[in-house]
Amino acid sequence: MEIFINDNKHEAFDNETIIQVTDRLNIHIPRFCYHKRLSIVASCRMCLIEVEGAKFPQPACSTLVREGMKIKTTGSVTEDAQKSTMEFLLINHPLDCPVCDQAGECELQDVSLDHGDYKSNYNEMKRTVIDKDIGSLVSTEMTRCIHCSRCVRFGEEVAGIKELGMTGRGEKTKIETFVNQSLTSELSGNVIDLCPVGALNNNLYKYSARTWDLEQKNSISFNDCLGSNIYYHIYKNSIKRAVPKENEQINLSWLSDRDRFGHEGIESNERILLPMIKENNKLIQSDLNSLYSITAEKIKEFSPNTTAIMSAQSSCEEMYLYQKILRENGITNIDHRTKECDFRYQENYPVIPSFDIKINDLAKMDNIILVNTNISKEFPILSIYLRNAIKNNSTNVFSLATYNYSENFDTNINEIFSPTDLVRYLRDSANNQLASIESNHKNLIILGPSSTHLKNYTEILNSTSNFAKLTNSKLALLGDLSNSSGAWAMGIIPHRLPGGIQCDKYKEKNYVSAYPSNDMFIVYNLEPEYDFSNDIEILDKLKKSKYNIFFSSYITDAIEKYADIVFPLAVQQESTGTHLNTNKQLQKSEAVILPKEKAKPGLDFLHNISKALGLDISNKQISQDISKILSSINITDNYVITENLRVPKEKDILEKYIIRSPNTNNPTLRRCESLLNTHDADNFMSLPMDMNITEDKKVTLTEHSKQIKINTNIKTHSKPENTILLKFSGRYKQKLGSCNSVIDIE
Ligand code: SF4
Ligand code: FES
Repeated sequence: MEIFINDNKHEAFDNETIIQVTDRLNIHIPRFCYHKRLSIVASCRMCLIEVEGAKFPQPACSTLVREGMKIKTTGSVTEDAQKSTMEFLLINHPLDCPVCDQAGECELQDVSLDHGDYKSNYNEMKRTVIDKDIGSLVSTEMTRCIHCSRCVRFGEEVAGIKELGMTGRGEKTKIETFVNQSLTSELSGNVIDLCPVGALNNNLYKYSARTWDLEQKNSISFNDCLGSNIYYHIYKNSIKRAVPKENEQINLSWLSDRDRFGHEGIESNERILLPMIKENNKLIQSDLNSLYSITAEKIKEFSPNTTAIMSAQSSCEEMYLYQKILRENGITNIDHRTKECDFRYQENYPVIPSFDIKINDLAKMDNIILVNTNISKEFPILSIYLRNAIKNNSTNVFSLATYNYSENFDTNINEIFSPTDLVRYLRDSANNQLASIESNHKNLIILGPSSTHLKNYTEILNSTSNFAKLTNSKLALLGDLSNSSGAWAMGIIPHRLPGGIQCDKYKEKNYVSAYPSNDMFIVYNLEPEYDFSNDIEILDKLKKSKYNIFFSSYITDAIEKYADIVFPLAVQQESTGTHLNTNKQLQKSEAVILPKEKAKPGLDFLHNISKALGLDISNKQISQDISKILSSINITDNYVITENLRVPKEKDILEKYIIRSPNTNNPTLRRCESLLNTHDADNFMSLPMDMNITEDKKVTLTEHSKQIKINTNIKTHSKPENTILLKFSGRYKQKLGSCNSVIDIE
C-alpha cells in the first residue's frame, strides 16, 4: 500500500505498524516501551505522532498503517505531544546523569535532548525507590525506572520466567522481583540492554568506564556450540562488557548470561603470563625459544609414545596445525574427548556433530524430543527458539531426562530415567509415550552433550538413532564445547584425519580412553582436575609419564605439580581464529584485546614449534586447507548405529550421574566469580530416597579402587531410580570426574 510520511510517498505492507515502516525507512521516531522483539503495550506515549484525520496524536508503535495514510514525524503537533510526554517522564526521573552508568547511551537522555524542553512545570519533590538485590549479575537503581515494562515483558515473552513484575499504581508503581528473589533465568542479563535508562545495570561493568571511552569489537561466544555473536567493549586493553550483536540465524538480539559475563575470568590472578620450565621440582620462568626447541626435541624423542589432548574450545587453525605437527612426527594418539569414557560409537559417528536442521527451522517442527539436555540452562538461546515453536506452531516437546530439571517452556511429556533405563525406553518406543511420534510428521530429536559423558553413551546414541530412523526424525547432536564440530572436522581424534578420512595408522581397536598411558603427554588448554571424565586416572598417568608439556592460560595444582614446561596460552578473546558452530557455520573471531605480558595465541606457539621441527606452513595455507576440508564434508544424516552392542543390564547397579555444569565448562568460565555466585552454584549429591542417608551420615565413594569422601549437601530423589546425582558447579575439593561407574556407599 501507499502511505505518506512527511509528505513523501512510501510503500508499506498490510499489518505493519507506523513505527515498523519508519524503522525500515530509517525515519526516527522516539520510543521507550516499544521493542521489535517484544509485544506492544503503547504505554509510554513517547512515539506520539500526527496522523492526518485523527483528533489526537497517535502512538506510532501500535497504530497500523492504512492506504493513503498521511503521517508527520516532525511539525508542531508531533513535537508538542513528544515534549509533553518527555516532561511527564522526567517528573520523577533523577538528574543524576553525571554518575549514571547509562549516560552517553541512555535513551532517555538522548530523547530528552532531541525532543524535550529545557524547563518543567513541575516543582514537586521527586520520588525515590529503594533498590533491590536481584543477584550478582544485574544491579539496580530503581529510582531511575520509567516503567516502560520492557524488562517485565522480556521475562514473560522471551526468557519464559516471570521474575520481574510491576506492582502498585500511578505514583506508587514499582518494578520488582516476586517475593524478593534473585533473577534465575540464564538470559537475565538481557534486561540490561533492554532498559532504556540506568535502572538495570551490568554489575560487572558498573562504574568501571564511561561508554564514550569504550571501543567496540566484534567477536563470537566461546562458551557453547551455537557461537552467539558478541560485541566486546574495550577500554585500555581490558574487556569491560559484552553485548549482543544481532544475528538472525543464531542469537537474534540476545545473549546468554555466560556469554555476557563470561569474560570476567580473563582477569583472574591464576593467569599464566610467562613461559615456564620445571627445575628442582618447581616451575620457574624460562624463555620461549628454549621451550620451542625442548618441545621439538621431546616430540622426536617420545614419538610415537605420546598422548596429545586438546580442548575443543581451540580454533580450527590451532587444531589443524596441532594435529599436523603431531601426525607428521608419528604421534597418532590425538583426542579432544577428554570428558568421554565410552568410545565404541566412534567408527559410525558422522564427520562432525551438527544440528542437522537450521536453528530457524525449529519453528516448523511438529515434535521435538529432548534427550538428556536441560535446554534452558545449557543452551538458553535455543530455549527462545523452542518457546517460539511452541507458541507459534503448537510444537509438541518431549523431555527424556536423567535428572529432574525445569525448562522455561512447556513440555508435553517429562520422563526421568537412569542412563540405563533411558536406553530401554528409547528401544521400547512402540509401547510407551513415544508411540505417538509418527513418521509423516516433522520430528527432531536433540541429544545433549551430557550424554557424551556417560558410560553407556554408545547405547544411548544407538537407541536414539534407531528411534530417529524409525520415526523419520532429524537428529541434532549438540557439542560440549564451542568448537566440538571443528575438533571432529580438523582431525582431533585418533581414528580420523581432517575431513573425516580414516587414519590408517590408527590400530588401537580396543580404544578405551581418550588418554592412553604414555611416555609423554601434551595437554592443550585443558585442566586435569576439571576437564577429564576420570581425573584420578589422568593425574596418575601424568605422574607416571616421563615428560608433560602444557599449553594453558591458568595455573592449577596439577599443572604446577606435573608440568615440565608450560606455554602461557592467550585466551580466545586475545587470539584470532575460526570456530565451526553446530549449524555448520565457520565464524571468525579477531583478537579483541592484546595478550597479557608474555602470553601468546596458541597458533604462534604452534608455528614456532613446527619451524623447530622443520615444518613450515603459513597461515594462508592453513586457511586454504581448512576451507578445502570443510567444503568436502557431506553429511546425509546424524544417525550413529552401532551393531552388536551388549543389551543393557537389568537394574542391579547404582549408576553415578554428574550433572553437566555449563557455567564452569571451560577454564575462563570457571574463574568468573559473578557467574559462580548465581543461584546455579548449588553443589549437592542426591541419592535415591530409599537409601535413607541423613545429613550427618558420612558418605564414601569407592571408585577405581580409590576412596573419596563426599563433603557436600545431600538431597534425596525418587527419580531416577538406582542413580546417584552429583552436581558440582564451581571448583570443588572433591575431584570425582564425570566417569559413570559402579560405586559403593558405605
Ligand atoms: S527497569 Fe528499565 S526496563 Fe524495566 S520498566 Fe523500568 S525503565 Fe523499563
Ligand atoms: S513506544 Fe509507543 S507508546 Fe511507548
